[in-house]
This record gives sequence, C-alpha cells and structure tokens, in this order.
Amino acid sequence: MNQYKKDFPVFENKPCVYLDSAATAQRPGSVIEAEKYFYENMNANPLRGLYELSMAATDAYAEARTCVKDLINASEDAEVIFTRNTTESLNLAAYSYGLNFVHEGDEIVTTVMEHHSNMLPWQMVAERTGAKLIYLEPEADGSFSKEELDSKITDRCRLIAIAQVSNVLGCVNPVKELAKRVHKNGGIIVVDGAQSVPHMKVDVRDLDADFLAFSGHKLMAPFGIGVLYGKRELLEKMPPFLTGGEMIEYVRLDGATWAELPHKFEAGTVNPAGAYGLKAAIEYLQGVGFDHIRETEDSLTKKIFGEFSKLPYIHIYGSPDPLQHTGIVSFTIDGVHPHDIASILDADKVDIRAGHHCAQPLMDYLRVGNTARASLYLYNDEEDVDSFLASIKKIRKIMGFQD
Ligand code: ALA
Repeated sequence: MNQYKKDFPVFENKPCVYLDSAATAQRPGSVIEAEKYFYENMNANPLRGLYELSMAATDAYAEARTCVKDLINASEDAEVIFTRNTTESLNLAAYSYGLNFVHEGDEIVTTVMEHHSNMLPWQMVAERTGAKLIYLEPEADGSFSKEELDSKITDRCRLIAIAQVSNVLGCVNPVKELAKRVHKNGGIIVVDGAQSVPHMKVDVRDLDADFLAFSGHKLMAPFGIGVLYGKRELLEKMPPFLTGGEMIEYVRLDGATWAELPHKFEAGTVNPAGAYGLKAAIEYLQGVGFDHIRETEDSLTKKIFGEFSKLPYIHIYGSPDPLQHTGIVSFTIDGVHPHDIASILDADKVDIRAGHHCAQPLMDYLRVGNTARASLYLYNDEEDVDSFLASIKKIRKIMGFQD
C-alpha cells in the first residue's frame, strides 16, 4: 500500500479507488484540520479588525500568500492574488489585462486543447477588442510542430494563453519556449497551471510566465481558493476586475483610488480559511516532494499503458509514451460509451471521469465525442491500478462483446 494513503481520511471512511484527481484531489487530514483550526481559533474577517482574532486571521492569510509565493518562486507576495479557482483567475487576466491591453488587429494565440476556462475568456476578449484569435493544433502526441508555431505565432501576437499540462492529453506544453517567442514581440503569456502546479515544480521566473493561474482544490487544498500569479509591472497597470470592499484606497462620491497590490484584485471578504488550508496542502506536497509524486504517477501510468497495449479495443489519446502524460490517461473502448465505462467502474468502486472534460473543441479535433479519463496522484498505488484494470477487462463482456 502507498505510504501516503493513510493520510487521507476519505479512503478509510469511503473506501474507493480514486482515479479522478485531475478533477479534484483528495485532502489529507492535515488540510482538513488546518481549515477546522482556522475556524476554531482564528475566525474573524481578516484585514479589517483591530482585535486579536482578526489580526490572527490576517496573519494566517498573509502567511498563506508567502507560502504560495515560495511554491511558484514569485518575486514577492504582492504578485500572488487569491481568487476562487483557476477559472476566476483566468477571467481576471482576461477582463483586466486582455480587455485593456489587447487591441484590434492584435493576435491572441491559444490552442485547441485548452480547457474551456482558458478558451472562453479569450474568445470574449477577441470579440470585444477586435483582436484575432488563433488556435495552435497539436500533433497526435500533443506536441506542436515548429512549422505550426512559426506559422501561427506572428509578430502581431500580443498574448499567448496555454495550459502547461493538458487536462485530457496530459502532455506538458513548451511554456518557456512560447514565453520567449511572445516576449520578442512585446507580448505576454498566460499559463493555465491547473494540472501542472499540483504535479511538478513550477517556477514562474524560470518560465518567465506573465500570469499563472491555478486552483487549490486540485492540489489538495479546500474548495474555493485559487491563485493568479502576475508580474508586478502588469498588475500595477491593470484596472481592478471586481470592485467593492477592501480593494480601495479611498472612495469619494465621484470615484475611488485603488488599494496596493495584491488587495486591488481581492474585492470583498476573502477566504482566509481556504488560504490557510492551501498553505497546509502546499506543506504536505513539499513533504512528499515533487520527485516522488512524478515517480509514483509515472510508474502507475506505465503499468496502465502496458496492460492497455494488450487490449486492442482500447485507444489512448495523446503520446504513446506513458512518461509524457503527467498521470492522465484518456481513453476509449470500442463499442462502449465512456459514460458506460465510468458506470461499470463505479459499480466496482473505481472512480474515473467520463465526458468531454470541459474541452469540447479538443474532442472535436480528436474526432471523439467523449473519453474516459483516469488521473493519478500521489496517494495511488499498484493495488488501485490492479483494481482499475480488472474492472476495465470485464467491460466488453458486460456490454455483450465476445473477445
Ligand atoms: N478541470 C477539471 C477536469 O479536467 C474539472 O476534470
């Protein structure tokens, strides 16, 4: 058994084979306890009160921000904006940066493999500004050819929006190279880190990312806390996304001036308990170590690929190399709808996701309506994969095929 599994109360309370961590991760007890501790010992509205409890909440919130800054190697705490989730973070970048700094005739480059949350905001920006939206199309393994990049990233490209890891193909996109290309034109890169930050060391300064968005819940933090990293020089010149409490310096009847970063982008009561839980999740992750996470996910993915290769009716999407999948295996079974795959596995208490994975244009590009998707994380082990494979091998028979 995986030594970390015991840290996750859900596996004791509701035994299951959990292979849907790309949708949301399970939480270790330390994260659940941290959020509870906040409510039991520090619960007050942070950044406002002049009494001890509120100051404790303010400190906890600030410590969480420093912890995120260190995780992604941002230059300063003020570059870390807390949001609800990746979607909100990407919308913040689109509304505050995109609508104000992308203009008619500019080009926005994204990819057909984006999650809807990193596609729809840029469709909106293109529509409202008159910029042209250009989609990079990957090869079957998820990579982009040099010709594709050369022909579609022109000197009119002002913004690239791309997932660092695809939530369907699991491939790692060349963010660093794309950052170089777009910076040459004076443009910027927005990175969707929802599927990368929980699984690998992401260093915003090494990547030279201008924005990086991710969710807490995919890295074992509570629901409802997310992050937008942005370079100070960009955040400074952007107008607020949302307006209201706490994000102001001074309000008059005829206008207002804005608070310093990061508060300018955190309107209304924030989520200090979630942030405190996020800090606990990051500490847990760092205790396990990204190398160990990689090894666990890679060795289990290899095992799945090995067994799947013996079953000619199974098709895997993305690279044939299991080490290019970041623990994400999207697949179909001939003659069986992915929803039936998920339901049959559910009867064996094996949890996977089936559907379009909020990536309908990618499904169209792959000429498949839906896929099944197994996604791994640090608590999965050989027994999980054995149960998954045993269940998979029964499916065609249950559906009436004589293999
Ligand atoms: N974005 C999450 C997923 O891919 C929900 O499953």
